Amino acid sequence: MEELTTTEYKKQRKLIIVWGITFLVVFPLLVTLGMLMRISHAELADISAERFYSFMTLHGLGMIGLLFSFAFAGIWYLLSTRYVKLKLSVGYFVYITVLLSVIGLAVAALIGKFGPGWYLLYPLPFIGGSWPVWTTGLSTVSLLALGVGWLIGILHVLYAMAKEYGGFTNMLGWQYIKNKEDKREIPVIVLASTISLVPGVLAILAGAVLLIMYLLQVMEPSLNFDALMLKNIVMFFGHTIANITMYCAVTWVYTLLPEYTKRPWYVDKVLVYSWNATFFFVCIAFLHHMYMDLEQPLYLQIIGQVASYSSAIPATAITMFGIISQLYHSRVKWGVVPLTFLFGAAGWAIGGLSAVVDSTISFNKVLHNTLWVPAHFHTYMLLGVVLFIFGYLYYVAGEKKDIHTGGVAKLGLWTYIIGAAGFLLMFYYGGMNSVPRRYNTYSGMGVDATHQAGVYGAKIAVFSIGILFIGLLIMYVTLFLKLTKKDETKNLD
Ligand code: HEM
Repeated sequence: MEELTTTEYKKQRKLIIVWGITFLVVFPLLVTLGMLMRISHAELADISAERFYSFMTLHGLGMIGLLFSFAFAGIWYLLSTRYVKLKLSVGYFVYITVLLSVIGLAVAALIGKFGPGWYLLYPLPFIGGSWPVWTTGLSTVSLLALGVGWLIGILHVLYAMAKEYGGFTNMLGWQYIKNKEDKREIPVIVLASTISLVPGVLAILAGAVLLIMYLLQVMEPSLNFDALMLKNIVMFFGHTIANITMYCAVTWVYTLLPEYTKRPWYVDKVLVYSWNATFFFVCIAFLHHMYMDLEQPLYLQIIGQVASYSSAIPATAITMFGIISQLYHSRVKWGVVPLTFLFGAAGWAIGGLSAVVDSTISFNKVLHNTLWVPAHFHTYMLLGVVLFIFGYLYYVAGEKKDIHTGGVAKLGLWTYIIGAAGFLLMFYYGGMNSVPRRYNTYSGMGVDATHQAGVYGAKIAVFSIGILFIGLLIMYVTLFLKLTKKDETKNLD
């Protein structure tokens, strides 16, 4: 691509800093909602059921929305400053729509107590809820706006890559399979972000269909849809977006880690085969959410089981292997950026493994809807994606030029990891003791041992979240100091 002018470069940099600051403001607010839920479980405070479920809904939707938005913004910045020309106006359009939809969701949840959970399971938003109808309407419109913003941003990025690299099949790396001498080389970020973003387009379109049906029912309450079909759609949407959030964040690791190890990371046949396989599996692995829907044909459950196992192998295993071979004997200087990338990959592996356990039908019979479920996805979000985000933010703030002085930042990172691990272990502990998920309190539970395990685990979780907050605070201070050090931020990358 044509070289960026300094002004264009600075403008793209400003956009990622705006995204970074938004992440740093919203993330602890959403963690606070999570902490309040655990405080309720620990019986340390009395939080009404309406409040609890509105917190849970805003926390779930907010976290998924925030993490995917930042993961996309991170790809945008790397692509726009290195590989393809991206329009800033589209970048800001995405930012504003995301911001407006977050405000809409926050109003519906915090003022209207909208509380059907992140998945808005049909017909829950319309029946017997303690929230007024306008909150369902506002949340639906906000989520639609979010989808439109994401969709336009993603299509713009895909179009720009197709223009630069000679079409869609080249972006998928198929020219490497044909073994042509004069093939068009592509950077790994182009391959991996194509594989991540195209399923994202499908998921968003499916989500839009669901939301339009919801909107129709808000306007015409006598309508009635097939609940199982809508559950399938919402699970395809939610599972796919959560999965590709990780894949988008991994594209940064492919791009930035070689700068620390001084080992280039090229696209080759193995990478092409594994990412292309991921493309397929990521679209069907959601079927493991259907195990308990015995109304559906058996073959869907079998496909769900096979796809869940298979999806764990290609991109994950190949990326892990790639990270290890990048680092092995590389004499990398262990600043905070490579450390967050290494621990983030470990969090991804651990969370992925416990997801595979849960997707095994015989385990799922026991673990279904217990705290094991939030345990697995919190692991790869909190110790995976969020760590990658902090690594990325340190990189943007200029850590690369400052690898020897990151001691305090590393202290913050370790504190965060210890806090997060304590919090996550208590979810696993709850799951293994059959403590159910999505209960506002465990107090009315008939089985005393389960009640005790729930409350005991939640108390330790609250303490651990306190430690996590201390880690966050230290990382925030070091990031802020780096961002405000003028001379270091001038010549980044
Ligand atoms: C320290 C940080 C966090 C805390 C304290 C926290 C806490 C919680 C708690 C207590 C629940 C309810 C569990 C239940 O009983 O079912 C929950 C659910 C959830 N959390 Fe987190 N969480 C944190 C980070 C995250 C992150 C990083 C994500 C990113 C995606 C996330 C996404 C979700 C989702 C999607 C749900 C399910 C909501 C629902 O069932 O509708 N959380 N979280």
